[in-house]
Amino acid sequence: MDFTFSDYQESADFLREKLHGFVPEVLLILGSGLGFLGDTVESPVYVDYGTIPHFRPSTAPDHKGRFVFGTLRGKRVAVMQGRMHCYEGYSMEEAAYGVRVLRLLGADKLIVTNAAGAVNTGFSAGDLMLITDHIKLFDFGPLRGPNLAEFGTRFPDMTAVYTPRLIGLAREVAARQKLTLREGVYMYFPGPQFETPAEVRAARILGADAVGMSTVPETIVAAHCGYEILGVTLCSNMAAGVLPQPLSGAEVNETAEASAPRFSALILGCLEAM
Ligand code: HPA
Repeated sequence: MDFTFSDYQESADFLREKLHGFVPEVLLILGSGLGFLGDTVESPVYVDYGTIPHFRPSTAPDHKGRFVFGTLRGKRVAVMQGRMHCYEGYSMEEAAYGVRVLRLLGADKLIVTNAAGAVNTGFSAGDLMLITDHIKLFDFGPLRGPNLAEFGTRFPDMTAVYTPRLIGLAREVAARQKLTLREGVYMYFPGPQFETPAEVRAARILGADAVGMSTVPETIVAAHCGYEILGVTLCSNMAAGVLPQPLSGAEVNETAEASAPRFSALILGCLEAM
């Protein structure tokens, strides 16, 4: 379905009433393993997605499905504890709904994280990768349908979706933390099935360093409405066919959990420096 500008406004008005003058600056969309950062927000105000007009609840297991508004590392943040994925049955526009609502509330910086499979054979499971660009070849995009000019132009430029200023800043933070931070291209696959080895080989030939099932709907919408964007991937596993073993959701979760301290330190360091 196509949302109208007034749908977004109604959602924003609902949240504004709950926030009593608090204006978020940074939206954090946290993927597998980092949702706990939402629990560390100071002076938190929690709003469940299901209570917000036009919002769709998140159905993914271990995703709490709520906003946490408050302060983190001195920044006024809105944390999405749990995101919507298209494989849950949402359109890309639905999956990215919160990005536009938060833009109306004043946020103009987005930090987005995910877990993905490493396609680059020079990477290892557990590596963190700064997203420098993405590939989305499948499926209609989130901007399909009437353009909502209040958010942005019909044909938005995608030359620098992942903001060079924030990429530079993340490099500096990683160096200070003596953390190895890979860099590369994230390729979107709709899932929920993992890729076949042939799809992973194709992704590599196309220039991808990691493959995953999220993030791109949100970043396209965020680029359209003028956010500065920082994207970081946890390579929770080597993508299908790279190693002689099948993939499992359990492996993804285990690596995400084991990497959480490094991952959260990087994200919090970037947040502070933004
Ligand atoms: N492919 C797609 N999505 C993923 C993967 C993967 O290998 N690992 C974690 N999320």
